[in-house]
Amino acid sequence: MKLNWGMIGGGEGSQIGPAHRLGAQADGLFTLAAAALDADGAKGRAYAQRLGVAPARAYGDWREMLAGERGRAERVDLVTVATPNATHFEITKAFLEAGFHVLCEKPMTMSVEEGEEIVRIARASGRICAVNYCYSAYPMVREMREMVARGDLGRIRLVVTNFSHGHHGNAADADNPRVRWRYDPAMAGVSGQFADCGIHALHMASFITGDQVEKLSADFASTIAGRALEDDAMVNFRMIGGAVGRLWTSSVAIGRQHGFDIQVFGEAGGLAWASEQPDQVYYTPVGGRKQIIEKGEAGLSDEAARLSRVPVAHPEGFPLAVANIYVDLAAAIRGEARDGLPLAEDGLRSMAAVAAAVDSARAKGAWVDARPPMLR
Ligand SMILES: NC(=O)c1ccc[n+]([C@@H]2O[C@H](COP(=O)([O-])OP(=O)(O)OC[C@H]3O[C@@H](n4cnc5c(N)ncnc54)[C@H](O)[C@@H]3O)[C@@H](O)[C@H]2O)c1
Repeated sequence: MKLNWGMIGGGEGSQIGPAHRLGAQADGLFTLAAAALDADGAKGRAYAQRLGVAPARAYGDWREMLAGERGRAERVDLVTVATPNATHFEITKAFLEAGFHVLCEKPMTMSVEEGEEIVRIARASGRICAVNYCYSAYPMVREMREMVARGDLGRIRLVVTNFSHGHHGNAADADNPRVRWRYDPAMAGVSGQFADCGIHALHMASFITGDQVEKLSADFASTIAGRALEDDAMVNFRMIGGAVGRLWTSSVAIGRQHGFDIQVFGEAGGLAWASEQPDQVYYTPVGGRKQIIEKGEAGLSDEAARLSRVPVAHPEGFPLAVANIYVDLAAAIRGEARDGLPLAEDGLRSMAAVAAAVDSARAKGAWVDARPPMLR
């Protein structure tokens, strides 16, 4: 039977809303049953109805949705939170406490303390709180994770990752409301670009290597006048297992489009992957030739094969990576364990890294412990 799904934020014209709607509904696992899609209640109600939500469940805001859904027999099983960052904590907390499963957009919260609270609530309630680190659900990212786990690369020495685009590089567009909130501390928190994109790269480094970030040193820059938060950051990090990490994230790198890539170098070989060509992994064994490993070809890991729906050489793309998060969420809601589903603990680790990077940048790059106190 299909699960009932509710969505908060991600209204018409939003960046991430369509990927959630395509992703959640791609495999026939969820029905969009309730929604509070927009900061403008009337607009959100109208759009939800155009998407097929019954008028009584097309809500004007999330509190109304919570009140309307909590008493229903056929209430939503899962709520996605795709609003701007500052609202994630209170919405996620409220729905978890009311017994709903939640998929929260990143960053999960605005502080480490809030992140720890969400982890505690999720653990106590037995509800799932997942965080949308959707790039980790690309089939070939799962392939890289498997290759590292089975030792193809040997001990990991170095991870180099970039998430640098140029879409906020136009100073004339800096007041566009969809750009501005990302650099407004009241809406985005203590960090701009690092909390927006850098944490995806850091999560990916941990996800592929199976290791966690221990400490980091950061240099933040705000390159457009009037921006209170950084739009460019360089972060050096060390992983608990000893690997060296280098991360560059920027939103003013004009000409770079999505700009998310990662390279993992071990003593027995190296891997390279980029989100703009997500179906290929470049693998070079030490002393050997560079090879292209392709999504859909024979001999891939079970995980890479499981998360791919279309044949070799046919692109699946971003919405189906998001769909893979929903596939694993549906399984987890039904009680099956799903290794690889990003959870509240991952969201909390990101918040600890954000806090550490802000402290480090203020202290001229001093090395700061990046582990959340709760998970040390
Ligand atoms: N996982 C990813 O790859 C990814 C990619 C893009 C954005 N995001 C995250 O998704 C979130 C939204 O980002 P976006 O780029 O779509 O932003 P956006 O500004 O394009 O859209 C935000 C949407 O939320 C609605 N909204 C705002 N406040 C609301 C409220 N209180 N109740 C209901 N709706 C509300 C707005 O009306 C709008 O429809 C952010 O937290 C962002 O970090 C994640």
